[in-house]
Amino acid sequence: MAEQKSRYVQKRTAKPKDMKGTLKRILSYFFSFKSRLIMVILLIVLSVGASVASAYFLKPLINDNILPLIGVKGPDLSGLISMIAVMAAVYYIGAFSSFLYSRMMVTISTGTLCKMRMDLFEHLQKLPIRYYDTNSHGDIMSRFTNDTDTLRQMLSMTFPQLIQSILSVTFTAVIMISLNIKLSLIVFGMMVVMSICIFFISRHSRKYFKQVQRAMADVNGYSEEMIEGQRVVKVFNREEIIKEGFSEINNRHRLAGQQSQGATGMLMPLMANLSYVTYALCAVVGASMAISGELDVGTIASFLEYSRTFSRPITNMSTQFNYIMAALAGAERVFELLDTPEEVDEGKVTLVYAEKDENGVLTESSKRTGKWAWKVPHSDGTTELVELKGDVRLEHVVFGYEKNKTVLNDISLYAKPGQKIAFVGSTGAGKTTITNLINRFYDVPDGKIRYDGININRIKKDDLRRSLGVVLQDTNLFSGTVMDNIRYGKLDATDEECIAAAKLANADSFIRKLPHGYDTMLEANGGNLSQGQRQLLNISRAAVADPPVLILDEATSSIDTRTEHLIEAGMDQLMEGRTVFIIAHRLSTVRNSDAIIVLEHGEIIERGDHNSLIAEKGKYYQLYTGALELE
Ligand SMILES: Nc1ncnc2c1ncn2[C@@H]1O[C@H](COP(=O)(O)OP(=O)(O)OP(=O)(O)O)[C@@H](O)[C@H]1O
Ligand SMILES: [Mg+2]
Repeated sequence: MAEQKSRYVQKRTAKPKDMKGTLKRILSYFFSFKSRLIMVILLIVLSVGASVASAYFLKPLINDNILPLIGVKGPDLSGLISMIAVMAAVYYIGAFSSFLYSRMMVTISTGTLCKMRMDLFEHLQKLPIRYYDTNSHGDIMSRFTNDTDTLRQMLSMTFPQLIQSILSVTFTAVIMISLNIKLSLIVFGMMVVMSICIFFISRHSRKYFKQVQRAMADVNGYSEEMIEGQRVVKVFNREEIIKEGFSEINNRHRLAGQQSQGATGMLMPLMANLSYVTYALCAVVGASMAISGELDVGTIASFLEYSRTFSRPITNMSTQFNYIMAALAGAERVFELLDTPEEVDEGKVTLVYAEKDENGVLTESSKRTGKWAWKVPHSDGTTELVELKGDVRLEHVVFGYEKNKTVLNDISLYAKPGQKIAFVGSTGAGKTTITNLINRFYDVPDGKIRYDGININRIKKDDLRRSLGVVLQDTNLFSGTVMDNIRYGKLDATDEECIAAAKLANADSFIRKLPHGYDTMLEANGGNLSQGQRQLLNISRAAVADPPVLILDEATSSIDTRTEHLIEAGMDQLMEGRTVFIIAHRLSTVRNSDAIIVLEHGEIIERGDHNSLIAEKGKYYQLYTGALELE
């Protein structure tokens, strides 16, 4: 628990912000909708122009069409009516353009968001496994959902509003000056006061916005972990404790939210008050000017209307500023993920189909020949084909997940094509780690791993992994049918191939007993299957891929002894003709391996076949006889 908390606390260190850079990047997403964006801006100009103009019409309306008619008997109302009609038309044009641009903005902002999420998702597929080791899944999810959503809000609402506000302030200012300079000066003076208030208040609240986004990520991270670990939580009765943990994180989110909104919450009423003061000042000064005959009533009415609406966009801008801050904080987290360096892959060697003629010469083939070769490019531009045989050698491999903690120390071993190599050893000895290096989940800094004589760092990761069939220690199934899950091993496999693979792994019999057989839907990582059944599906998945090299990590650990014997025969078939690395705690499953490698604390302490190791009476002997006693 303490560890969990500290993990959430650790991440609180604030990073320096690069507002300008972030804004630029957001806009670069935005600008892929250039033509629509120009349309939107034109429509905004139209709508703002219409709303500013409609207030201006008050002046001719009063001065030319109302005042002259006062006291006149049987007045001619046609001028008044046509003036009102013009005002109505202008008003409707404004309303319609505003409706149109809002609709267009929705398309633009959802499109931007869609593109950004796609980029995020694509990037996630390219990140090294290490990234997932060190970042909570909830935090990553939060960048997808919450952070991008604040951005969408900003793009769809704030962006047009901001343009609108700026335009409307400018238009209004111009017209006010044209109406009366003296009164305009009063309004501008007040505007300076307002801007100063906005500046100080926003500066104060700015720092809290990033905290809000981060706290939200923590809320997501924590709840995701607890949802996933529900069974463990229940088994240990930890409901109350995790509630406390959650409450702490949740409160932090609340507090950050309050702090960020607190100061800016003052803005609206403050601005409203200042705008009333402006209005009152203009009214008093305007009235005295009217009395002295300096100004006509129409102009005053029109001006007062402007002075009232003038402060509105400024107040709006101040609240929009909030959204911008929140969105920038979110965007920074999104870009931070996008900027996480991708898994480097300098591998140039690729895997191709090949044909072998009677002289044993390999040629590349575009057809599925069932035979594979490594295509090795040389520095002089030529390429060489090397037959994929499945010869894997580790030479003095030293590796640690963290810098100064060695997990594997000077490991050297080989598997000739078709050999079955077993790793045994106590838990944490480094068995899974070796397989992680073979499929390049992690790269080896020291020593070499050669695959058919080629350093695996030179092989393109995708192609390397295509040549390996891996059954991981942690089973992972996806939402979909049983058939879909088996086909995951080879996407173009026919139903018959999938069924044959399931038969090979002896999964067929249990699958047929499922409610809909191969069409049974699996939910949430195969929650409706037993652990052993999930493993059988994982083995079937590797079998359908039909790879030359197989890595089976604890593949049979959750299978009962009877089933184990049953699948052993199938596994033997599956392993036939392939190089196999097998990790199993049950020593009975590794007995018939060509070589058994005993690991202890990341070092090879014994190696040999079953009989020679038993004769040696070392660690393997102890493990084996101990295991026999236990069984
Ligand atoms: N992602 C990781 N980050 C840091 N250390 C790790 C990571 N995975 C494993 N380790 C460490 O590496 C060591 C070897 O782990 P490994 O998973 O290879 O053990 P193993 O032999 O497969 O054990 P088991 O039989 O329990 O599966 C362990 O001490 C473990 O703490
Ligand atoms: Mg392991």
